[in-house]
Amino acid sequence: MALRGRDIVSLRDLSSEEILELLEGAKKMIPIAEGRKASASLEGRLVAAAFFEPSTRTRLSFETAVQRLGGRCITIADAGLTSMRKGESLSDTIRMLSSYSDAIVLRHPSEGAARLAADASDKPVINAGDGANQHPTQALLDLLTMHEALGTLAGLKVVLLGDLRYGRTVHSLAIALAMFGAEMVLTNPKSLGFPEELRGDLDAMGAKISEEPDLRRAVRDADVLYVTRIQKERFGDEGEYRQVAGSYRVDASTLEGAKPRLIVLHPLPRAGEIDPEIDRTPHAAYFRQAFLAVPMRMALLDSILRARGG
Ligand code: CP
Repeated sequence: MALRGRDIVSLRDLSSEEILELLEGAKKMIPIAEGRKASASLEGRLVAAAFFEPSTRTRLSFETAVQRLGGRCITIADAGLTSMRKGESLSDTIRMLSSYSDAIVLRHPSEGAARLAADASDKPVINAGDGANQHPTQALLDLLTMHEALGTLAGLKVVLLGDLRYGRTVHSLAIALAMFGAEMVLTNPKSLGFPEELRGDLDAMGAKISEEPDLRRAVRDADVLYVTRIQKERFGDEGEYRQVAGSYRVDASTLEGAKPRLIVLHPLPRAGEIDPEIDRTPHAAYFRQAFLAVPMRMALLDSILRARGG
């Protein structure tokens, strides 16, 4: 695969063929991610994880992925402890990190930060979430979870529930679903629809999108229910947030009449959108999804960083 040395700023940086190859690569990484098999494919490689926003899964799964493959990490987990507190620019910070490491994984609150970092760095930059814009590696592991559970991506009917305005995971996922010809059903509070520009891009791609405000009706013949948290931290106005807070919740009654093989996904963290009673049902796939972050990111890092012929 020709991913060696490439930036992954947006899902659009990957072709559908490359995504399918990455999914197959990730499946082969599962025994290594589980610690049942050893690998040293990233031995001698150093990855900088630069996180300027909170994270549990993304940062730790990237770090786990690097270490399971025999590489090492340097990490910024608290922006307040960096010299950006003294006024250093993101661009200078990235330029310096690129001289210390072989690749940079960046999470930042500003939309466009990953593109700026990729321009400043002479090493590959992987976008681990830039504001309300994109989270491409989350979309890859979402696809992997669907592919593992349902055996295909083509023709799936996927309900996207929640904050489609600020939810970056669902922005990247929608592009991926459009690439694979999946059908999307949008169920969101009125004020939290897709940003116009993204919706325009999806329409231009010929994405199959419909809207169904009634969640139970939307779920009835769906293959995937993808739930998102309302991104409280991105609202400029507290009153606007309060109007939509708690406006949807998935519980057992939501899934009555759903297909037996329907899977419920959530990028996590959840904040009350899924009743924990769902955890015990065969529909719950969100903790498997969180685990699959490790083999998915292993496959990606391996493709970007592995020495030629290694
Ligand atoms: N899914 C996700 O991005 O989780 P974290 O914010 O914990 O990294």
